[in-house]
Amino acid sequence: MNHIKIDLDRRLGNIHRHIFGGFAEHLGRCFYGGIYEPGSPLADEQGFRKDVLEALSRLRMPIIRYPGGNFVSGYRWMDGVGPVEQRPARPELAWETIETNHFGTNEFIQLCRKLQTEPYIVVNCGDGDMREARDWVEYCNSSQQTALANLRRQHGFDAPHNVKYWGIGNEVDGEWQIGYKTPQEYARTYKEFAKVMRWVDPKIKLLASMISNWSAEYVERTQLLLDHAADYVDYFAIHWYVGNPDNDFAKYMAVSEFLEERLSVTEGLIRAMKLQRNIQRPIAIAVDEWNVWYRARGDTLEERNNLEEIYNLEDALVVAMHFNAFIRHAQSVKMANIAQIVNVIAPIFTNPNGLFLQTIFHPFELYSRTCGNIALDAFWKGDTFSSGPHTGLRTLDVSASLDEAKKTLTIFVVNRSKTDALETTISLDSGFFAGDVQAHVINGPDIKSTNSFDQPNQVGIRTAAATAERNVLNYTFEPHSVTALVCTVK
Ligand code: AHR
Repeated sequence: MNHIKIDLDRRLGNIHRHIFGGFAEHLGRCFYGGIYEPGSPLADEQGFRKDVLEALSRLRMPIIRYPGGNFVSGYRWMDGVGPVEQRPARPELAWETIETNHFGTNEFIQLCRKLQTEPYIVVNCGDGDMREARDWVEYCNSSQQTALANLRRQHGFDAPHNVKYWGIGNEVDGEWQIGYKTPQEYARTYKEFAKVMRWVDPKIKLLASMISNWSAEYVERTQLLLDHAADYVDYFAIHWYVGNPDNDFAKYMAVSEFLEERLSVTEGLIRAMKLQRNIQRPIAIAVDEWNVWYRARGDTLEERNNLEEIYNLEDALVVAMHFNAFIRHAQSVKMANIAQIVNVIAPIFTNPNGLFLQTIFHPFELYSRTCGNIALDAFWKGDTFSSGPHTGLRTLDVSASLDEAKKTLTIFVVNRSKTDALETTISLDSGFFAGDVQAHVINGPDIKSTNSFDQPNQVGIRTAAATAERNVLNYTFEPHSVTALVCTVK
């Protein structure tokens, strides 16, 4: 028997909606042939695929990161503005292709406006310089009569774009990056970029590219960055990708421990440095690239250009576990961006005639739609499993949120058993259930089930009602499933 106990007064922190962010890179068919396909019968008058926009809107992403990724470290933003026919095509070194520049800054802003999402731009801190970075801020955000603001106006955008979130560099700690930087180099460069970008627009929030190479010297990197530029770091950006290359379900389901470790290590690093250096301003964590990615790793040139991973049900469970971890760490994780959003390691997969929703679309949509604004400290115990060094892992992976205004409690549960339905008693230590409970369940025939153009609904969401009495709800979680129990409470 499993038991989940929830006390509505035991709160972990406010959940920032930016944890439901996305990331779109100039890579493969993310834009061209995905989001943006001028001339397609499915496109609107500005070239955006209407079916893709509709699917993206269902994810309610409050923020989208752009334009890379590895791509940005060789990108000149000026190539991507102005009349399309005059934009230069360039060799693209990160993904070994040719970039036409038909999609650029203004198209990205249009995309964000259509989706009612906040733009987050990463500047080139690879082979780009600080002049280029500050010019980009000026082009986007200035309302003055300057050459770059006037250029934007000339390009058809009178009002400033007011881009608030700016990242300085992508994965600068990786040798694979154009313009890799040592900890010393990045700390110095970051500060100089940040200074001029903030001088152009003091309202912007800045994200430092901190850890993507988890076997490198990130402690030293953190120390140096905060020594040099503590006043300029609003977010500490970290990346990871996970997968199941050994085809070992239990090992894959133990990914919760990996997430826990990386988040608590990052929290600890920031806390230690803040204490040691007496840094008073808040520094949040942005997991601004995360996802499952291990199959389409690029053994061939086509794969390297496309990264078209097809997801199965177990991947959907892992995506749900990410959200559970972000909710449990709501106090420090204030942004997270699934990488990526269309075709390239993404929840939405297109062809010229339409699209299907990958398995991982469903947990994203479910959490984004039902999550409240306060993270609760749920307690749970019951069945366990083991994998490698991890013993006594609870088979259920749980998080809980509260929407105080709507008096809605949402309990998110991943049942990591391949075979067993788990009977569970959920009790409220304070408050009562008031009315019916909606149980939204993501499942499919098998942990390896995938969606496709031919079978788009192998894995999807079903909704049913459950009944609670006073402060107790008995519920049985299906094997290999994700469930959101949405409850009205009083
Ligand atoms: O999202 C794909 C790639 O993964 C990004 O370009 C890079 O930042 C990361 O290594």
